[in-house]
Amino acid sequence: MRERAEELLQWYDAHARDLPWRVPPRAGVQGVRADPYAVWLSEVMLQQTTVAAVKGYFTRFMERWPRVEALAGARDEDVMGEWAGLGYYARARNLLKCARVVAARGGFPDTREGLMELPGIGPYTSAAIAAIAFDRAEVVVDGNVERVMARLYAVLEPLPASKQVLIDHAARLTPQERPGDYAQAVMDLGATVCTPKSPACGICPWMRHCDGRTAGIAPELPRKTPK
Ligand code: ADE
Repeated sequence: MRERAEELLQWYDAHARDLPWRVPPRAGVQGVRADPYAVWLSEVMLQQTTVAAVKGYFTRFMERWPRVEALAGARDEDVMGEWAGLGYYARARNLLKCARVVAARGGFPDTREGLMELPGIGPYTSAAIAAIAFDRAEVVVDGNVERVMARLYAVLEPLPASKQVLIDHAARLTPQERPGDYAQAVMDLGATVCTPKSPACGICPWMRHCDGRTAGIAPELPRKTPK
């Protein structure tokens, strides 16, 4: 399994998306950590919103409130105003609550368990922040990762019943080395190569390993039980 993670990380070093909340992968290798505040802010914004829509909001928030202490001291109406247009406004209210708790305790907790206790941070977001900001080997599974795992292992059982199987596959692949970069690499693979429609299997770093591609059914996966 190490080999697969390494192949994906090599691909990521060459093809990572240039997103405003990322440190360059190479800086990550040398031990330069991402800013936990920036990672948290981006992950909360990305919870129900696309990368394209989030970019501008993220940059404006970081310019106006560059640190968690600054956001904690902001007026509610200023934060709600800056959030306007992103939708799901409970996120903005929790954002402010969370910033105040974190500023009062002197920084973000550096474990998934600690992060889970904060307002607005659930199982996915806590794993993502622990991995990306603190390089913990947490298993980060969003819709992109589910799709990649369903194809890589040709999981025919439809979602949501297959969810735990997909998480188990993701867990076995997650490396101890560079888990934060790895988490973002799988997301990027899902967003740019292993896309929902017409996946670009010919340029995929996991092409040789992909059971879905071998079976000729990658584009049909994951299957979904109709709601
Ligand atoms: N979606 C959720 N978190 C993300 C991240 N850190 N990078 C890219 N897409 C994401």
